[in-house]
Amino acid sequence: MKLLIEPKQNNLNEAQIHINGAKNALLPLLFSTPLVDGKTSFTNVPLQLKDYQGSKKILTRLGLTFEEGQDRVQILNNGLVQEGDLPSSLTKATRCSLYLLGSAAKKNGHIAIGLPGGCSFGRERRFDLHLDGLRALNAEVRVENGLISIRHLRDIDVQHTLAFPSVGATTNLILYATLGHKEVILSNCAVEPEIINLINFLNQCGAKIAVDTIHREVVVQGVTSLHASEMKLIPDRIQIMTYVVLAMMHKKRLHLKGVTSLGNLQTPLQSLVELGLTYDYQPKEGILIIHGDQLTSFKGLEMVCQPYPGFPTDLQPIFAMLGLVANSAGTIKDNVIPERTAYLDEIMKLGAEVMYKDRGILTQPINETLKGAAMCCTDLRGGMACVMAASVANGPSIISNADQVFRGYDNLLDNLSHFMHVTHLEKEQMVTALNVQNQVA
Ligand code: EPU
Repeated sequence: MKLLIEPKQNNLNEAQIHINGAKNALLPLLFSTPLVDGKTSFTNVPLQLKDYQGSKKILTRLGLTFEEGQDRVQILNNGLVQEGDLPSSLTKATRCSLYLLGSAAKKNGHIAIGLPGGCSFGRERRFDLHLDGLRALNAEVRVENGLISIRHLRDIDVQHTLAFPSVGATTNLILYATLGHKEVILSNCAVEPEIINLINFLNQCGAKIAVDTIHREVVVQGVTSLHASEMKLIPDRIQIMTYVVLAMMHKKRLHLKGVTSLGNLQTPLQSLVELGLTYDYQPKEGILIIHGDQLTSFKGLEMVCQPYPGFPTDLQPIFAMLGLVANSAGTIKDNVIPERTAYLDEIMKLGAEVMYKDRGILTQPINETLKGAAMCCTDLRGGMACVMAASVANGPSIISNADQVFRGYDNLLDNLSHFMHVTHLEKEQMVTALNVQNQVA
């Protein structure tokens, strides 16, 4: 899929965007449903997201049935079926297919799945921490011929320390420990809001999970079954901050609706306040008003991405785009996914000076106006960075492989249209696009 991005003239200086539930909250919830008997209900669900659609296909293959309506999905689990292995043609739709090792394997006693997908960031994303943890929890683990197979042996009391507070490994081990007869203590856990949301859901379903976010410890007392429950998804903190950054880049006053709390946004929002950004928050209405229109100029950012409550790696490419309109140089270090830099080569095609240097990303103020370019989305957030950069260029840009961005941003074209002209190119428009591409190449 290709997008044509053109700068918007006579731009209104006010915009309104509604924020739906978070992709990274939704996916672990979906993959927890193999553990839950009966009909589970999730609301505030971005049903159009490509990662939701891919997850639905996988879970349907396991025998779960989905009923969708507006922003709601009900998932019925009347017992899992598994005819043979789950092939990689299905599991590669999302990295979260790995969560079946924690949920479906524990519920049914075993599972064999193809390798997971998700953003690659230019090299294979490891899942050794998932497998090390599952082995520690007494699972028999095999990886051979492109399949990961897990067999549950018997429940044991166990204390396991993760080598790194991985979001995925923490999630998987919590899922695996939830059903059983023993106590599992997990140390050095990730405590991202999406994990807390999953724990709250599982506890609503009858699980016994306690979490100490300060000391990164989770204690799971196994229970024999989980009953169905209902949960409203937390808003997508990465989408919220993406649109806040766009409001700053385009000097807009932005009303964000559906922002139920600022708690999860503190670190990134505070870093923008330090640049001079002001905002109002109406908690009862869930409205966050960003005064991007009152910003004259701001300096380059200095920041380091760390596990939550540190600065999120998912915002690294997004915040790097602020460097394009800042008035001094900035640096960003990513200590969570340092290899997340492939998008920089695309951004430089616009004439921007953003580069990987000294194990960090260096952003320089623009000397000459950026020109339009043909760019390719390397991954979800890096793809969004390309779109954002194109919106401040002086001329049209074409962004290919844009499906990547639709994996994680819902209502994308409408939301972007507040800041830029954006056209989803259909086949017949490709010819015109090719002409533009020749102009911008
Ligand atoms: N890691 C390992 N081995 C593992 C697991 C992780 O070496 O077994 C390394 C990874 O290579 C990475 C770091 O640990 O360098 C962090 O990985 P983590 O497991 O925490 O990430 P994840 O669970 O694979 C989730 C999000 C990502 C987000 C990261 C970090 C979901 C579906 N995905 O991935 O979101 O970047 O946590 O916060 O929740 C995105 O939305 O664009 C996205 C990539």
